[in-house]
Amino acid sequence: MQKLIIKGKKEIAGNISISGSKNATLPILAASILCKNVTLKNIPFVQDIFTMVKLLKFIGMKIVISKNKGTIRIKNKNNKIKTLAPYKLVKTMRAGVLVLGPILAKFRKAKISLPGGCAIGTRPVDLHLFALKKLGAKIKIKNGYIIAEAKKGLIGSKITFPNISVGATENAILAAFHAKGNTILKNSATEPEIKDLISFLNKLGGNIKMNNRSIFIKGCEKVKEEIKHNVIFDRIELGTYLIAAALVGKKIKINKIQSKIIKSELDILKKMGVKLKIQKNSITISKSNNIKKINIATKPYPGFPTDLQAQLMVLMTKANGISKIQENIFENRFMHVSELNRMGANIEIKNKVAIVKGPSKLNGAEVMATDLRASVSLVLAGLVANKKTIINRIYHLDRGYELLEKKLKNCNANIKRV
Ligand code: UD1
Repeated sequence: MQKLIIKGKKEIAGNISISGSKNATLPILAASILCKNVTLKNIPFVQDIFTMVKLLKFIGMKIVISKNKGTIRIKNKNNKIKTLAPYKLVKTMRAGVLVLGPILAKFRKAKISLPGGCAIGTRPVDLHLFALKKLGAKIKIKNGYIIAEAKKGLIGSKITFPNISVGATENAILAAFHAKGNTILKNSATEPEIKDLISFLNKLGGNIKMNNRSIFIKGCEKVKEEIKHNVIFDRIELGTYLIAAALVGKKIKINKIQSKIIKSELDILKKMGVKLKIQKNSITISKSNNIKKINIATKPYPGFPTDLQAQLMVLMTKANGISKIQENIFENRFMHVSELNRMGANIEIKNKVAIVKGPSKLNGAEVMATDLRASVSLVLAGLVANKKTIINRIYHLDRGYELLEKKLKNCNANIKRV
């Protein structure tokens, strides 16, 4: 099994280009079920994307990946695709459940495996099913599968989500795309990745608008023959490298981004005393020797993202005083804490809150990655720690970070995969 070995306490300097967003690409790939010819650009070639491609190929779509161009081309020549997503392809990646909405919308029936839990929490799909039922789908759960049917097609409706969910909002948009009449989604998630999905669907012929937490969808009958789309940058990858630079950066310039999209993250870094030069499409950042304590809570966008919680916690270990993070999105997302404590951090968990007593000197150790974002927090800790850090189970990292070692090595980090 592969491991990462990092020799820390080395300053990093140079340029980093941010890849396309994994979390935007996944629903857009699911949306390609609704299309005829699609070219997607700025694709991050990470494991989750290959898993989704495998699922789409299984159901019968023709897909050509061009790694050097960073593109995926999809052709749906005939309409004879399978309406089944089997357990073996959905269990490794929850986003597989996003094919439910488009398959049901287009083929009026779908049999999709329940994705099951994962390390960071139980992660149910009740909100996805709630929305589809409101659109007129008949849904049964049998032998671990969601069996959905809408014999006469889905019908537009007004849906108020009881809680905010990114995936449920995406599935509802994808299903409502071909529904008869108008749909209004209230209390929706408004993540930039959802806006990217909407922009993709509007290119396809849709008429979808977002206003605060409301999304208005006019049912679309006819789709365009051919569309192209450039996927938005990965704001979580950007946040991760911003924190890396705040920890050990001499001078790092991060490119291929839109700064306005990560306002809450930048505000927090500024409050922590991180030195930033913010431009429209790049941010230059260097290490601060006087990191200030802060209290934050994870929230749906535009709040601070749960996907950056583990990374920010590493920066908090270097702050003067006690910082706190309240995790409001997932119930079990502090698994990195015990590993960070093994490296010398002083972090205590009380219910939903991690209390980080800083500043701590981090020391290299052999550690275990437990999920995608937790594993990258260990990379950040390794970069700032004394001596050698060995990170096991890095397949978690490969699910979501494109060319991580290469991007860091280009900036003189001492990191290698064995
Ligand atoms: C997406 C992101 C993930 C991110 C998360 C929150 C993708 C592929 N993944 O995951 O990286 O961490 O948003 O920003 O985009 N919930 C329910 N019932 C449901 C659905 C969700 O109770 O039917 C709960 C979840 O357990 C969780 C909360 O709602 O507590 C938010 O989850 P959700 O926004 O749905 O996350 P995902 O779409 O799975």
